[in-house]
Amino acid sequence: MIVGVRDSQLYQSISSTYDTSRRADERVARRIHRAIGDAERVVNVGAGTGNYEPGDRSVTAVEPSSDMIAKRPPGSAPVVRAVAEALPFGSHRFDAAMASLTLHHWRDRRRGLAEMRRVARRQVLFLFDPVETYRFWAIEYWPAALALPSEQDVPSAADLGQVLDVVAIETVPVPIDCTDGFGAAFWGRPEAYLEPDVQQGMSWLAQLPDRELAAGAARLRADLDSGRWDERNGHLRQLTELDVGYRLVIAGS
Ligand SMILES: C[S@@+](CC[C@H](N)C(=O)[O-])C[C@H]1O[C@@H](n2cnc3c(N)ncnc32)[C@H](O)[C@@H]1O
Repeated sequence: MIVGVRDSQLYQSISSTYDTSRRADERVARRIHRAIGDAERVVNVGAGTGNYEPGDRSVTAVEPSSDMIAKRPPGSAPVVRAVAEALPFGSHRFDAAMASLTLHHWRDRRRGLAEMRRVARRQVLFLFDPVETYRFWAIEYWPAALALPSEQDVPSAADLGQVLDVVAIETVPVPIDCTDGFGAAFWGRPEAYLEPDVQQGMSWLAQLPDRELAAGAARLRADLDSGRWDERNGHLRQLTELDVGYRLVIAGS
């Protein structure tokens, strides 16, 4: 078995709505592609359905979940079923290794990062920095999410310097109309967090027990109905983008 039962069930469930709620955002994609630079051979680790894979390079995808692999659109890059912690490639096989919104799911993050470094001269990670993202207003409605295994000991962007030769950490502000429904993507559209497809497509909510998920949704709905959410956060609806802790970490050469 490549991934554990918990993981298999999680990605089976997340994959069911991934292609509708999780469409790569073009503005974020441009940032990732710029960071990949002139790399021709690219490995995309934790590739999922292929979001953010550059279409103009030679890409090899790595993904452990067969459910996510099954959702990759026809014509997407060839995919190898494997985990970041044991990349089935020789050293220096790629010019760049990319990983987007996946690091927090890895069982041994340090080992996965070391593997990215072994197989490619450049590493590019798009991730959330817990120091920032855990201040996001929605956590208040579902605080139990912080106890999930995927949220334990998540490295900060700066922590990656313990394994990689980090050359830049860039802030990636999230547009208010972001098309990729990742964890904090709906910072200015709170009603979205009440939609089952949105909840199902983001791991921090999809992993919660039904009762916990429903209780948080009921609290949010009550605050939206009473105007309390807008009293406290309504200014966010007027912004066009916000720093909610998403970072691009660029390492190597
Ligand atoms: C939130 S999805 C991100 C997918 C894609 N990179 C994207 O940006 O849409 C997280 C992905 O990480 C994968 N994953 C989980 N554990 C992993 C591991 N140990 N090594 C590599 N990928 C893993 C999951 O199967 C899932 O497809």
